[in-house]
Amino acid sequence: MINNLKLKKWVQEWADWFQPESVYWCNGSEAENQRLLDEMVACGMGVKLNEAKRPNSYYFQSDPSDVARVEDRTFICSKTKEGAGPTNNWADPAEMKQTMRELYKGCMKGRTMYVIPFSMGPLGSNIAHIGVEITDSPYVVANMRIMTRMGDKVLDILGETGDFVPCVHSIGAPLAPGQKDVKWPCAPIEKKYITHFPETHEIWSYGSGYGGNALLGKKCLALRIASIMAKEQGWMAEHMLIMGLTNPKGEKKYIAAAFPSACGKTNLAMLIPTLPGWKVECVGDDIAWMKFGADGQLYAINPEAGFFGVAPFTSMETNPNAMLSCRANTIFTNVGLTPDGDVWWEGIGTECPPGTLNWKNKVYDPASGEPCAHPNARFTAPACQCPAIDKDWENPVGVPISAFLFGGRRPNTVPLVHESKSWNHGVFMGSVAGSEVTAAAIGLKAGVRRDPFAMLPFCGYNMGDYFGHWINIGKRAGAKLPKIFYVNWFRKDENGKFLWPGYGENSRVLAYIFDRCDGKGESVDTPIGKVPAVKSINIKGLAGMDEAKMAKVLAVSNDEWKAEVALIEEHYARFGSHLPKELSAELAGLKERLGM
Ligand code: OXD
Ligand code: MN
Repeated sequence: MINNLKLKKWVQEWADWFQPESVYWCNGSEAENQRLLDEMVACGMGVKLNEAKRPNSYYFQSDPSDVARVEDRTFICSKTKEGAGPTNNWADPAEMKQTMRELYKGCMKGRTMYVIPFSMGPLGSNIAHIGVEITDSPYVVANMRIMTRMGDKVLDILGETGDFVPCVHSIGAPLAPGQKDVKWPCAPIEKKYITHFPETHEIWSYGSGYGGNALLGKKCLALRIASIMAKEQGWMAEHMLIMGLTNPKGEKKYIAAAFPSACGKTNLAMLIPTLPGWKVECVGDDIAWMKFGADGQLYAINPEAGFFGVAPFTSMETNPNAMLSCRANTIFTNVGLTPDGDVWWEGIGTECPPGTLNWKNKVYDPASGEPCAHPNARFTAPACQCPAIDKDWENPVGVPISAFLFGGRRPNTVPLVHESKSWNHGVFMGSVAGSEVTAAAIGLKAGVRRDPFAMLPFCGYNMGDYFGHWINIGKRAGAKLPKIFYVNWFRKDENGKFLWPGYGENSRVLAYIFDRCDGKGESVDTPIGKVPAVKSINIKGLAGMDEAKMAKVLAVSNDEWKAEVALIEEHYARFGSHLPKELSAELAGLKERLGM
């Protein structure tokens, strides 16, 4: 029974505009999910995987034009361009709505319009929020069922008067009477639009059926729109994993960490420590929503219910917990399909069985130079299937955060770990985070791609004002603020070899951070912050590591940092008057400490 008038009216208005063949309200039941999956298999959209090998799991191949988030088709349509700031694509909201309404008119002809009520966060948590997505993609419905809590139970919470974030999605491929459907219907790239309206908290998406473009609870709601709500309401919506870390004495702390995409966030979130007696448990691998509790602590929830993980190079060696998370009840997209009905991807750790189909549905030919799985091939797996899932991952109160970590891929300059001198200095560290990229990787100038707080593609408003929000969080009376660290697992030696082994060995750095949160562990003051004393990171049993090498991983070179300052100045110049004065002061302080 739908008794929320605002919701009913909104759905009716869009149904009138989209002109679908029928409207279906998703209840979230197992039977409904099975019916949709069976229908997709029956019409050739998807494949049921071998039940004995991959129970209750399904396989999809996307259109080659629809394989990833489309950042240059993603818009923040605030009233003014300044509201979106220098790092977002902006379009006038009225003009964008006009353009999209034209595309949307009749765009669901011949299809079912699904209505998906969903909760981002544990049902009823006061940190959670409700959204409702309208879509014409049954693939989106099946993915949303894994990635969010969805269906009737959400309508119950919404009640007659509850509010929701309206999320409108169409693949943009109406069917004429009698027209045969294709396997992955979508619109051409120049007609794809992923748009956000900050003033009204609305999301409109058109033309793509893939990941963050289409599963609107994730990047669109839980990051872009939520970042706006968080600023308005005094909380935090961050592109952060959340992990529980337990030491050999059984003491536990929670850490949240922001890294740009492709820096191993999912691996870190569920890492298996090599350090004896330590344990990592996963609360979330991508997004954290945080609010202050009455005790002044920040409490975090994972707004998602599943992992939308990159499959290639995930293996029992690199991330056994992710492999075990997708052993059943999983949707795979754009990986390879083996002749016996299982999945395969580069770096999975086994030989590719002959006759495997690649993501383009052709027999994979290793000699062709083309990968079998698309590099952005994904698994959508329920988080509860992760063997390392934290017992409090669905606690509506959230988990108390003791430390924030920022990072990126930096082959030089940035030590393995350093700690901020203060909250504002930590905000400075987050604001200059980034990864070194090669020109080929993103079609841009080679160099450091700044990705402040790993939020570059996900901040729903002016990034300079977002920095200001972080500064303001630190001013809250009575706040027990997390300590802030910057880590870099990717430093290289003069021969281009990684100095630090990464993966499970990162537990050694986490152990140091844990101790620092307790006021233990020895650090030395440097111009860039507090760096561990060489002996304070436990390298016992770590093959190929000695104090001399540790000194290199932890080294801070004034010359390198002087060059870095010039790059930071260039980065900061983009934000003009929106750059908080506190951050200009932090930069000035760094220069002074470097003797500049
Ligand atoms: C993701 C991303 O897919 O950050 O999570 O790109
Ligand atoms: Mn992400």
